[in-house]
Amino acid sequence: MARVRTASASRWISLLVNIACWLSAVVYAQAPPAAYLRTPTPQQLEWHQLEYYAFVHFGPNTFTNEEWGVSQSTPDVFNPTALDTDQWAKSFADAGMAGMILTAKHHDGMALWSTNSTTYQIGNGKWAKDRVSEGLGADVVQLAAASAKKYGIKFGIYLSPWDIHRDPAMPKPNLTSTIYDEPQIFGDDTPGDYNELYAQQLTELVTMQLDDGSPIQVSELWLDGNSGSDTVQTFNWTDFRNIIREYQPDAIMWGHQGVDARWVGNEDGVTVVTNWHCISRTQDETHYSGEELQTGVRDGSYWTPAEADARIRDGWFYHSTENPKTADALMSMYLQSVGRSVNLLLDVPPDTTGQIVQSDLDVLLQFKAQRDAFLNRALLTPGLGTNTSSVRSGNSTLYGPANVLDGDINTFWAIDDEDTTGWFEIDLGGTYSIDAFITQEHIALGQRIGGYTIDGVVNGTYKTLITGTSIGYKRIDRLSAPIETRRLRLRVTQANATPLINSFQALGVQKSSA
Ligand SMILES: *[C@@H]1O[C@H](CO)[C@@H](O)[C@H](O)[C@H]1NC(C)=O
Ligand SMILES: *[C@@H]1O[C@H](CO)[C@@H](O)[C@H](O)[C@H]1NC(C)=O
Ligand SMILES: *[C@@H]1O[C@H](CO)[C@@H](O)[C@H](O)[C@H]1NC(C)=O
Ligand SMILES: *[C@@H]1O[C@H](CO)[C@@H](O)[C@H](O)[C@H]1NC(C)=O
Ligand SMILES: *[C@@H]1O[C@H](CO)[C@@H](O)[C@H](O)[C@H]1NC(C)=O
Ligand SMILES: *[C@@H]1O[C@H](CO)[C@@H](O)[C@H](O)[C@H]1NC(C)=O
Repeated sequence: MARVRTASASRWISLLVNIACWLSAVVYAQAPPAAYLRTPTPQQLEWHQLEYYAFVHFGPNTFTNEEWGVSQSTPDVFNPTALDTDQWAKSFADAGMAGMILTAKHHDGMALWSTNSTTYQIGNGKWAKDRVSEGLGADVVQLAAASAKKYGIKFGIYLSPWDIHRDPAMPKPNLTSTIYDEPQIFGDDTPGDYNELYAQQLTELVTMQLDDGSPIQVSELWLDGNSGSDTVQTFNWTDFRNIIREYQPDAIMWGHQGVDARWVGNEDGVTVVTNWHCISRTQDETHYSGEELQTGVRDGSYWTPAEADARIRDGWFYHSTENPKTADALMSMYLQSVGRSVNLLLDVPPDTTGQIVQSDLDVLLQFKAQRDAFLNRALLTPGLGTNTSSVRSGNSTLYGPANVLDGDINTFWAIDDEDTTGWFEIDLGGTYSIDAFITQEHIALGQRIGGYTIDGVVNGTYKTLITGTSIGYKRIDRLSAPIETRRLRLRVTQANATPLINSFQALGVQKSSA
């Protein structure tokens, strides 16, 4: 009896141990890797995926042929002869741009929407009054937002914090004794609170209703950090952020260095090779230099990814003497922005008719054709044979290298949690001529990788084709000359936490099967 009892007890113990192991294995297998330091909000994650969208600089400068008007024209100057915001939105959608951001108010202070905050608005000009008398809309922000919605693209708003119209350091003799002669409240030392005015303007814009009564959807608020006078104005960014969060919780607040997205430190649509999504300062702190903004801060305190703003022409506003850049130049820009994990905001200014000119539309479509021809040569398909250094918890379904080929951004390749370096290889099942790679880190759980190589088997042995540093949301690496191979390997050579890759792709053409 004693022996039986012992055997029975040990069977029980062994069963319990098995259950415990099985439970912990299940729990371990099911719990995803822990997030690493800062991670994007769901709104930022969606924003990263927009990648490329339009900037629309339009306002009095369009008609005075200036870049920085100094608030000397009355609203009568705003006189588009054939305004068509649908043409903007359709053109951008056709060009593969995910949205547009419109200058609701540039530095000159003239409002393009119907506002109670200032007399200095296009609504007080002849063009708008004529439109209204014809039963047509004259609120350009509202019209553009409706057009964006109609063509299925995002709509963002630029609202210049610096306001020449209110800045006492900027003389405005032409407006003296007109209804546009308004209190000079910009600046910490002036009477009146400019922050209140700005907050009112922001509130009006984010609570605007479209013609059909539906609320405006704002994807991004572009709060330019620029100023051209010595007047010191301390902005209440906290208040502005609260207004945006309250009425447009899905919107990204772009500022020189935050909150949700940052300037890339130049206006050329490019960034340096190593780019981190984080920084460690807010708008209230000393400004980073352009170089610092390009690189970002590895393991920084805030997830504040960069956006590269650029111009299709020389100026931000339309000038008839300028010409658009070539599709080649835009492609090069794209590879140095989107190809380096940074969104590209390309300015395409309407002319004095109120439409995008044909030459710019042609270039946008040529650039799209070139981009598509480059990108639509993906060679890696689900089901290709793979090997890897290790798989997290041994579970290839959840974490195996096949996950980088499945086109699902929620699945990823992961190795053991303790490891920071590792590799996977892919057999292409035939010989291919390859000239570029696209690699994406699983940034939903943080940016981890600081070194990687992409290798290809050439003449029987692996040859390193690419040596890179940061990856982040998306990295496009191009070879100077195509190579022929049938086996590729991605090696993570440095990471600050276990690396997670959600997508890997090679671009090229097939040479032979088998
Ligand atoms: C401002 O006034 C001056 C002098 O009358 C005039 O030459 C100039 O064109 C005006 N500027 C604008 C933008 O109207
Ligand atoms: C301006 O004020 C009027 C009257 O209070 C109000 O009906 C209107 O909605 C306001 N306009 C904006 C843009 O807030
Ligand atoms: C900023 O705005 C908030 C909210 O309106 C207010 O509570 C706070 O006092 C303001 N800060 C400053 C420095 O004025
Ligand atoms: C996996 O490794 C084995 C052994 O080295 C090799 O024969 C096979 O081709 C590899 N498969 C891939 C997909 O690289
Ligand atoms: C992998 O994880 C999935 C989901 O938890 C589970 O169904 C499967 O049995 C696991 N496979 C292995 C080999 O552990
Ligand atoms: C592969 O080997 C052949 C024969 O040795 C040589 O001619 C060729 O240049 C090699 N190719 C590469 C890419 O190294």
